[in-house]
Amino acid sequence: MANTILVGAQWGDEGKGKIIDALTAKADIVVRSQGGNNAGHTVIHDGTTYVLHLVPSGILRRGKVCVIGNGVVVDPIALVAEMENLRRLGIRIGKNLLISDCAHLVLPYHRVIDEQRELRKGHAKIGTTKRGIGPAYGDKAARTGLRISDLMQPILFSKKLQAKIRENNSILEALGAKAINYREVNESYLAAGKKLRPFVANTVVYLHRALQHGKEILFEGAQGTFLDIDHGTYPYVTSSNTTAGGACTGSGVPPHRMDRVLGVMKAYTTRVGEGALPTEDRQLAQRLHKLGREFGATTGRARRCGWFDAVATRYATMISGIDEVAITNLDGLDHVDPIRVCVGYRLNGKRLDVPPCDAAQLDNCEPIYEEMRGWNRSTGSSKKVSQLPLAARNYVKRIAQLTGARLSIVSVGPTRAQTIFL
Ligand code: GDP
Ligand code: IMO
Ligand code: MG
Repeated sequence: MANTILVGAQWGDEGKGKIIDALTAKADIVVRSQGGNNAGHTVIHDGTTYVLHLVPSGILRRGKVCVIGNGVVVDPIALVAEMENLRRLGIRIGKNLLISDCAHLVLPYHRVIDEQRELRKGHAKIGTTKRGIGPAYGDKAARTGLRISDLMQPILFSKKLQAKIRENNSILEALGAKAINYREVNESYLAAGKKLRPFVANTVVYLHRALQHGKEILFEGAQGTFLDIDHGTYPYVTSSNTTAGGACTGSGVPPHRMDRVLGVMKAYTTRVGEGALPTEDRQLAQRLHKLGREFGATTGRARRCGWFDAVATRYATMISGIDEVAITNLDGLDHVDPIRVCVGYRLNGKRLDVPPCDAAQLDNCEPIYEEMRGWNRSTGSSKKVSQLPLAARNYVKRIAQLTGARLSIVSVGPTRAQTIFL
């Protein structure tokens, strides 16, 4: 393996956690470089379900080092809770976790502002995870954020926090929300800071040394291409760069040290939250939900579902330079026949081969479908591509071809064993 950036090629929840877990077997270090605890990465192993939010999914494998990079926004209270929960499940966390001192903090006023903005938007809401991600990145861009390095200096932190809470309480008051109590926040954040102190480091230096020693790094993307702040379906996006470039800026590892970009995509499409989803199909959603599938790992919300959208994944390949694809959840289509694949959009009588920038225009795009035969058989126990039904093989080949990248992994179930490497 080489240094690999793993990105979601759709709207998030593509099964990145599962694929990271499978690839970590061969990597040395796993890095999160953007997003926050809006992410929910599921890994099922030995009958236990782990949902990772801030801690890289590599933590589940012994001997691997996990890094929370400078581009991540960290809610220290949530991170401590997640670490304690992992420890309760028997996962060791010690020298195998590093947190960048440059990572920005998510504070309680970010969460309340996130919630209030959503409330005020009514039908136009984004459908955020309400984890305060947008306001935290907003403060970062406005150069008014607090960082892990501040939290490591209690006197300085308290002073900065007091000023920030004063400022944000007037915003909360204007929004009609309850004021935040400085003392409570200060106390709980300093307590969390104390617990996190042993893990805080200059992760840029750590990663550069690791590269010099020939270590292999896996960059665990969070969210997905169409939730990217620049390239996604703005404004129905998250607030970070979820595409490959984000792995560089969010970790301090330069572009020429990256060897490969792996795009993870479901064999169909899902989206949680508002915004256009051109191939949305209620019947397919009902079918998947009846099977107990496609409920959010972070918020428990039912995910919207639709057919595979090759216009979207082809564009994702362009933006992130996806070399290889991992197709997950193939088993979700086991008894669906025929299966539709979107190969183009139609907007005002014209054919489009890339998604339009404008959210309203994307909403008006009509998918142009190609139909393929289903396989009407279970794929969950297939260990090799040759064991997949012919129609399933044809399907994965076709969607990889339309995406414009080499097919390298097919996932036919949520466990480690249900991963086919090509
Ligand atoms: P992530 O955010 O990209 O890591 O994805 P999530 O964990 O939020 O959602 C993916 C869901 O699909 C989780 O429940 C996984 O356990 C599950 N999953 C991943 N790959 C497969 C697969 O090939 N088949 C099935 N049945 N489930 C899968
Ligand atoms: P993983 O890493 C799916 C969505 C939210 C909302 C929008 C903005 O598990 O794939 P935010 O809270 O970030 O301001 O919400 O982005 N969203 C995700 N959808 N998977 C995720 O992460 C997501 N993280 C955010 O539902 O539409
Ligand atoms: Mg998820």
